[in-house]
Parts: sequence; structure tokens; C-alpha cells
Amino acid sequence: PPLYIITPTYRRAEQLPELTRLAHTLMLVPNLYWLVIEDAVEKSPLVAKLLEKTGLRYQHLIAPMPDEYKSKKSGPKPRGVSNRNKGIEWVRANAVDGVIYLADDDNTYDLELFHEIRFTKRVSMFPVGLITKLGVSSPVVKNGVFSGFYDGWVAGRKFPVDMAGFAVSVKFLLERPNATMPYKPGYEEDGFLRSLKPFEPKEIELLASNCSRILVWHTQTKRNDPSSMLDLKAYVEKSHSSDGS
Ligand code: UGA
Ligand code: MN
Repeated sequence: PPLYIITPTYRRAEQLPELTRLAHTLMLVPNLYWLVIEDAVEKSPLVAKLLEKTGLRYQHLIAPMPDEYKSKKSGPKPRGVSNRNKGIEWVRANAVDGVIYLADDDNTYDLELFHEIRFTKRVSMFPVGLITKLGVSSPVVKNGVFSGFYDGWVAGRKFPVDMAGFAVSVKFLLERPNATMPYKPGYEEDGFLRSLKPFEPKEIELLASNCSRILVWHTQTKRNDPSSMLDLKAYVEKSHSSDGS
């Protein structure tokens, strides 16, 4: 059964390097569909070209963040939510079995992760490294059974986990037609997992050797100076002005 990898992405100087790195990981994974959804009003030709080059089976979609959130002047925004919901909708319309995994464009994924999640029956979970001050977010397993969560920001969440820390079976999702991700900064994962009801934490399938191994890291790319976007434009004008490439 296929893996449906749902990747939200948005335009910035680091977008192409992030997607290149992720693409090169996914190119090593058999039987996979990559759903790349841009937070944009039109598809980026550069992203389109990158996807074409991979030889992967993919869908290139767009799903801009609704204006009411995008225009917010202060506080956190629901990043990647419109994109992920678009990907989930696509899976609902096109898939019959397999597993979905929400893979942000900037994380780092061990190939073993894809072996682990492929046989998810309902909802599986596993540790995510390099996240919050604690350095890891994971279900806690004692004597082989689930016994709670370890996370640096529990904040009343029923499922205090990161987006990269779980996978969901397509059949399980299809049986829950109302499941969706809320536009609620900080509570996107919890809201989505709660919407998969009925489902309780004790039912989680514990992967990565009873959650003792880290197979995905919440890496964050250092922001380049925003003015480098302008420098790049000046460079392109200087060096490639005649052939338009
Ligand atoms: C953390 C979590 O790991 C994310 O899963 C969660 O969505 C995010 O916080 C959040 O709640 O805001 P973090 O590294 O802080 O992740 O966020 P980003 O990596 O900047 O963004 C998450 C995803 O959304 C990325 O794939 C990014 O490309 C995409 N994104 C970000 C957009 O599509 N639009 C944006 O305006 C910003
Ligand atoms: Mn990130």
C-alpha cells in the first residue's frame, strides 16, 4: 500500500533547497505519492520543475492561507493548515488504502521511518528529535505499553505531539469523513488527532522500537538575510539577462 506524503510549502529563499533535500530522501522510498501543496495563489514554476525532475509520483497543488489569518498583524499564524487540509482532501478523493504522513518541507527524515509507518493500521506515533527545550517529543512507553507523553509544551493538549510524530492509515481516515485540521496555532496536531475520534491515546501504535529511536528531526533552516532575495535578483539580471533562463 502506498504512502501519501503531504508536504506544505511556501515561497521564500530557502524553499528550493528544502524541497531538493526532501525530494532526494523521498526518491529512495518505494511506492510513494508526494503531495506538495503551496501556500500560494498560483503554482511556482520552479517548484513544478523540481517535482518533474524527481521522477516521483506527485501532485502539485495550491491552497493559500485564508486572508483572515494571513493579514493578522500579531501572534502566531496557522502555518501549513490550508495546505495540509488540501492534501487530506486529495487523499479522500483519490486513495483507498495506504498511509498518510504530514511531512513539513524543512524536517530531516531517516529512511527507516518510511518502513516503520507503512503498516500503520490506525494511528502510529514515534519520537521527533530537536524539538523544544527538551530536545525530543514522544509518547512514553513503559514495559511495552503507552504511559503518557513527553513534550516541552503540553498546554492542555490531549495529544501533545508534533506534526512529524504520527502517521494515519487512509482507511481509518476515510471512516472519519469529518476529520480535519483546525486553524488554531499550536493546536493543529491535537485538533486533527482529536477529530479522528473515536481514538484514544492508549490505542496509539508505538513505532521506532517502542519509541526508543529518533527517526525524524524537527530541523529548522537558518533564515538568510531577506535582502539576499534582492541581491539574487540583481545577480540574475546581470548574468542571465539575455537568454531569460
Ligand atoms: C512547527 C510544527 O512542527 C509544524 O508542524 C507546525 O505546523 C508549525 O510549528 C506551526 O504550528 O506553525 P515550525 O518549524 O515552527 O513547525 O514551522 P514551519 O516549518 O515554518 O512551517 C510548517 C510547515 O508549513 C512547513 O512545511 C512550511 O513550509 C509550511 N508553511 C509555513 C506554509 O505553508 N506557510 C507559511 O506561511 C509558513
Ligand atoms: Mn519547521
